[in-house]
Formats: sequence, C-alpha cells, structure tokens
Amino acid sequence: MAADLSGTPLVEMRDIRVAFGGVHAVDGVTIDLYPGEVVALVGGNGAGKTTLIKTLSGAHKCDSGQIYINGEPVTIDTPRDAKEYAIETIYQTLALAENIDATANMFLGRELKTRFRTLDDSAMESAAREVMGRLNPKFQNFKVPVNSLSGGQRQSVAIARAVHFNARILIMDEPTAALGPAETAQVTELIKQLKAEGIGIFLISHDIHDVFDLADRISVMLQGKLVGTVNKEDVTKDDVLGMIIIGKLPGEASSTELEALHE
Ligand SMILES: Nc1ncnc2c1ncn2[C@@H]1O[C@H](COP(=O)(O)OP(=O)(O)OP(=O)(O)O)[C@@H](O)[C@H]1O
Ligand SMILES: [Mg+2]
Repeated sequence: MAADLSGTPLVEMRDIRVAFGGVHAVDGVTIDLYPGEVVALVGGNGAGKTTLIKTLSGAHKCDSGQIYINGEPVTIDTPRDAKEYAIETIYQTLALAENIDATANMFLGRELKTRFRTLDDSAMESAAREVMGRLNPKFQNFKVPVNSLSGGQRQSVAIARAVHFNARILIMDEPTAALGPAETAQVTELIKQLKAEGIGIFLISHDIHDVFDLADRISVMLQGKLVGTVNKEDVTKDDVLGMIIIGKLPGEASSTELEALHE
C-alpha cells in the first residue's frame, strides 16, 4: 500500500550540495520521505547516492542545502545528531562486533543495567527476543557470536538494533548487495515489516527488481543531480533504466534511445 503523502514528510532534504575538490558529488538534490514509505535511491556508480545519504546519517556535512525532519529545519553534523532525530543507518559493511552474540550486539554501547548497575542480561535478552519476534520470528540464534550467522541473519540483527532504539527513519545502503537469494528474500520481508510499523526507509539499491518489489517512489540520480522522482505505480523498469542511464524522464526518451538500453 502506498504511503499517505498529504501530511508533513518525515524527512525533506532540500537543494543539498556536496563537492570534493572540483567534483560536484551531489549537486542541488531535493528528495523527501513519508512515514511507512520506501523511497529507493538509484543511479549508476558514482552518481552521488552514498554521499547524499551520508549528509542525513551525519557521516558527512553538506556544503549547502537544508534538511527538515517532521517539517523542522535541523543541523546534522554527527551520527549522534542523526540518532537524536531517530535516524539509523544500515551499511552494507555492517558494524557488528564479531565475537559477541546478537543480543550483546543489539545493546552494544547502550546496555541495559539492573538497579545494582550490573548488566541486565535477562532484560536485554527478552527485549531482543521481543523485537526480533516482530521482525524475523524464525531467528533463534541469540546466543552465538554473530560471526557464525549468515549475511541475512546479520542484517536482521542490525535492523533489530535500529528498531529497538526507535528508529523512525532508516537508511539502507545496498543492504542485500552481499547476500544470496534466500537471504535477500529475508531482508525483503524485514523491509516490508518495517514499512508496516510506519518507519520511513531510504533504500539505495542497484537491483531494479528489489527496487520494484519494495519501493513506493523511486528517486534517480545521475552525475550528482536528481533526474527525478517517480511513483513506482506510474513507471516501467525501462522508464527507470532510461532515467538512470540517459537521464531522461519517462516519455522524454525516444524509442531508439530506449531500445539502445537493451543492447
Ligand atoms: N571521500 C571522498 N573523497 C573524494 N571524492 C569522493 C569521496 N566520496 C565520494 N567521492 C566522489 O563523489 C562521487 C559520488 O560518489 P558516491 O559514493 O556518492 O556514489 P554512489 O552513487 O554511492 O556510487 P556507487 O553506486 O558506486 O556506490 C564520485 O565521483 C566519487 O568518486
Ligand atoms: Mg554508494
């Protein structure tokens, strides 16, 4: 079901610019995101997707432009600032601690304590089971080091951590790039679950099939600029490929140009 786009967006990034030396990595891009919505951010290698999204996750400052959260202008200079606005990021190279278990990873740096200030292992485990039970009920490997989990299970742990700490805005930069088909299906299911909980997701992906499966809207970047944002319902995969490769909106590309996409 498509999200309600009539209210205030969860996130609005307006006219964002980032340059590295002479390279305009992000060149005046405006995108937004509503609750319960997946916006896919797509484009070829070096289009500027990661750089754009890093200005929202606090990993990188923008040179100019403004970010609004729930309609309020905000300044996000650090990952800590981003967390204050309930923004969590899941990177492809997951920041999990390899030698400790799923529960310990979920609470790493934010451990629950008893009133005697010792670690409250049972409270952490039951909280971990509660959130994972909602997201991925099949997951039962709470007590093994995460280095023995599959890629999909590791993604589940990272996502459960974000959800437990009340993420409202989730950034996923190629979450399935390193995964096999079964694990990708698992993460796809998780993303659908997160949508149902009203979380807004920016999903960066090179997989046009994943994009069409999961996204409500698709924002396309090419050479640092936004080509456009389209509703998935209104476009074909070829329309989106045309935007990615030749930077033309649906209807603007000639039939010869579209045919060339398949050569
Ligand atoms: N730290 C950096 N220093 C210098 N240039 C950078 C840096 N990070 C990115 N760039 C440049 O900015 C441009 C956009 O890169 P970015 O990583 O945002 O692209 P992307 O769309 O995420 O690509 P990919 O699909 O390959 O991940 C590229 O030209 C890249 O070389
Ligand atoms: Mg990238």
